[in-house]
Amino acid sequence: MKGSIPEDKIEEVRRRTDIVSLIGEYVTLKKTGKNYLGLCPFHREKTPSFTVSPDKQMFYCFGCSEGGNGVSFLMKLNNLTFPEAVRQLAGKVGVVIPDRPPSREERERSTLGEQIRRVNGLAADYFAGALQSPAGEGAREYLRNRGIGAEAISTFRLGFAPEGWRNLLDFLDKKGVPPKLVEQAGLAIPRAGEGERGHYDRFRGRLMIPIEDVDGHVIAFGGRVIGAGEPKYMNSPESPVYTKGNNLYGLSRTREAIRQAGFSLMVEGYFDLIALWSAGIQHVVATLGTALTRAQVDLLRRYAPRVAAVFDPDEAGRKALARSLELFLAGNVHAKAVILPDGHDPDDYVRTRGREKMEELVARALPMVDYYIEEILGGRGTLEEDRDKLREAVAFLCRIVDAVERNLFIKKVAETLNVDEGVLKAEIQRTRAHSPAQMPAEQMRRKAPTEYDSVEMSLVQMMLEYPNKISVVAQSGVLDCFRTGELKSLGEELLAASLEGGATKDASVFVGSLSEGPLRNKLLALLVRESPYHEDLIDRLMADAVRQLRERANKERGRILTRKINEAKKAGNQELHDRLFAEKNRLLREEKELS
Ligand code: GTP
Ligand code: MN
Repeated sequence: MKGSIPEDKIEEVRRRTDIVSLIGEYVTLKKTGKNYLGLCPFHREKTPSFTVSPDKQMFYCFGCSEGGNGVSFLMKLNNLTFPEAVRQLAGKVGVVIPDRPPSREERERSTLGEQIRRVNGLAADYFAGALQSPAGEGAREYLRNRGIGAEAISTFRLGFAPEGWRNLLDFLDKKGVPPKLVEQAGLAIPRAGEGERGHYDRFRGRLMIPIEDVDGHVIAFGGRVIGAGEPKYMNSPESPVYTKGNNLYGLSRTREAIRQAGFSLMVEGYFDLIALWSAGIQHVVATLGTALTRAQVDLLRRYAPRVAAVFDPDEAGRKALARSLELFLAGNVHAKAVILPDGHDPDDYVRTRGREKMEELVARALPMVDYYIEEILGGRGTLEEDRDKLREAVAFLCRIVDAVERNLFIKKVAETLNVDEGVLKAEIQRTRAHSPAQMPAEQMRRKAPTEYDSVEMSLVQMMLEYPNKISVVAQSGVLDCFRTGELKSLGEELLAASLEGGATKDASVFVGSLSEGPLRNKLLALLVRESPYHEDLIDRLMADAVRQLRERANKERGRILTRKINEAKKAGNQELHDRLFAEKNRLLREEKELS
């Protein structure tokens, strides 16, 4: 699984990685005691239970049981394979891993996702090069006319797909990329007609905008016609690395600015984002014209808990606002509604009025809830319109999960619509009762806890935390007294690792390498907390645990012997009786010694 990366490089990457600064790039962390706490990026929560331990270099979420070390964090967060995560970390901490092209065997072993990301990266380079070539003059001029400069072009890796059917295919062919893979990446289309063979480029004569994941891997492309034409945009289809609603455009380049600003400005289009960024407003993301999703809200919240979202004042804009508002509320994100004057989008607004005017507009934005209640529900209409509004309000209020929040809004809505609060509440009760499906199941993946023997567990924990003390365990033979098979074999592994001599693996690596399951979760939960086993006491604590376990084992053995002795007596087997009796005496003597 570790593929082409040498073990010593992996070690070096691990050594240099600081889990707090790594995770801090994606999650806002607060120091509490020795540990850091934040909102878990792997499930939705309002109070932080995501814990990062700098001592152990581990993380664990007490809400959803995700946990591990730095490498596993990146793997989970960005859905990467082990070598991909290690390479990415290596880049961050300045370890150079020789980037030789993968052998055929390695290529076959690497996942389709990995291959697609690589192909997309190569394609982005190709398009960027083509933009600077003579063929790209038209596209360059188009960008110039829209006020997009060299810095934006290079930051957003803008490119150009020349006219022609095989430009990209030929380029990739020279790099050894088969057409089938180009197709799987969404960059080529198989010829469909009878007798037709081969593939052709999906993007031709278009301005190319790479869509990246938060870490800058190219996962898809948007292609815009140069000037007017239909369709205006062509986008990559979904692929193993690209699901539309799971990503936000620009985030890889703007997340740092978002973190610093404490909020993000959400727009719809590529060019809105690029124009704002160019004007110096860099805490921006774009939804790319599709309806906002929960996944996108979750993604955004990792970087800042507040969002200012731009909406059109028209009917479609209002609908979008109502839908988004629910998601923001459910996702615990404070949202404001930025409304541009009719007919404007952020791109032309910032270019014609300038950065300051745009910032003013954002600063004046109303909380989305207030905007929704006042502007959308408010204002008197005909009786019929009022009834529709009331119905919409009830549907909206029903979907607010948090009871306290819901009651606050009920009050406001009742005032705005001028209806009795009690009536509104009753109506909501009724609707909720009739639609259980509307109640978002905030169920977590939390499984029934598996019980482990607590003494065995703490001994294993001590072995993990103090590998230099493992010899105590080795000498005592106490592992034979373990009842939990899983803990016993884990203890044996730790013993073997320490007997092999040399550096004992540290706990984060060890636990990280365990397979997913309740034991791994339990250990992570224990290890990520501040250790209850103080260094000065560790010898005594360990000896005590060993003693307890051996006593227990002796007692058990004693009970069995007593039963067998009685059986032997009944059967009249004197010889067996004597032998068992002697053994029991030995056991009793041992017990005395132990206590
Ligand atoms: P410009 O018109 O060049 O300013 O583009 P824009 O990025 O500002 O786009 P616009 O505001 O018109 O639309 C918002 C987003 O919706 C775009 O960035 C695209 O992601 C998407 N979009 C717009 N038009 C199309 C289209 O014709 N096809 C597809 N697939 N997506 C589109
Ligand atoms: Mn636009």
